[in-house]
Amino acid sequence: MEEVLLDKCSRVETERLVLRRWEERDLDGVIRMNGDPRVMEFFRSLNTPDESRQFLEIMMRQEEKHGFCFPVVEDKETGAFLGFCGLNIPGYSGPLPCEPCVEIGWRLTPETWGKGIAVEAAKFWLRFGFETLQLDEIVAITVVQNHKSRRVMEKLGMTHDPAEDFDFPNVDQDHPLCRHVLYRLSADKFHEQTSD
Ligand SMILES: CC(C)(COP(=O)(O)OP(=O)(O)OC[C@H]1O[C@@H](n2cnc3c(N)ncnc32)[C@H](O)[C@@H]1OP(=O)(O)O)[C@@H](O)C(=O)NCCC(=O)NCCS
Repeated sequence: MEEVLLDKCSRVETERLVLRRWEERDLDGVIRMNGDPRVMEFFRSLNTPDESRQFLEIMMRQEEKHGFCFPVVEDKETGAFLGFCGLNIPGYSGPLPCEPCVEIGWRLTPETWGKGIAVEAAKFWLRFGFETLQLDEIVAITVVQNHKSRRVMEKLGMTHDPAEDFDFPNVDQDHPLCRHVLYRLSADKFHEQTSD
């Protein structure tokens, strides 16, 4: 899997975007994005510059280990850092109910919101996951109240069963960001959708 990604997928282009591996030069963009209260509305805290530095190190380490980790999204025309979107193997503070799994996730700078950027990047990575990596399923998770993110999941054809809602590991049960939804997309459904 690693070889496939590193050889064939270190940098790809979609209509408006470059999707690529993490680089040191992304640090300024990460600090701005992870320190922005609009972006971090559904996370338990903003990241300090030091935490963003650690975040970038983790992304790069996970990418080395698995071949991918929420790849970078860049503006094709200007080269600006827009955030991240793509596949990841979860490694959170505790196991998710759907593990082992490959998830898809996104975080973009607010200037880019509402233009279909998340969906454009995610569509590429879903195709890559199902066609190149031959995954059986890709999942996505978010807090119940993150309707923007849920809308992206729905636009990608992912489906949600309320019976699978879960408490995020190691978060107090009475914390407003504890309850999470799980969306799934199977390879069969993806192929059905894309053959239309
Ligand atoms: C979630 C996020 C990546 C979406 O990016 P985006 O590029 O704006 O997404 P898209 O433009 O592709 O689609 C957004 C959809 O959500 C809809 N939307 C926006 N705000 C919404 C809201 N409050 N409630 C419901 N839907 C909403 C938009 O209308 C659009 O759907 P439409 O095309 O049918 O109109 C972006 O908002 C973000 O980075 N948020 C902060 C980080 C975050 O929460 N990440 C997810 C963690 S799980």
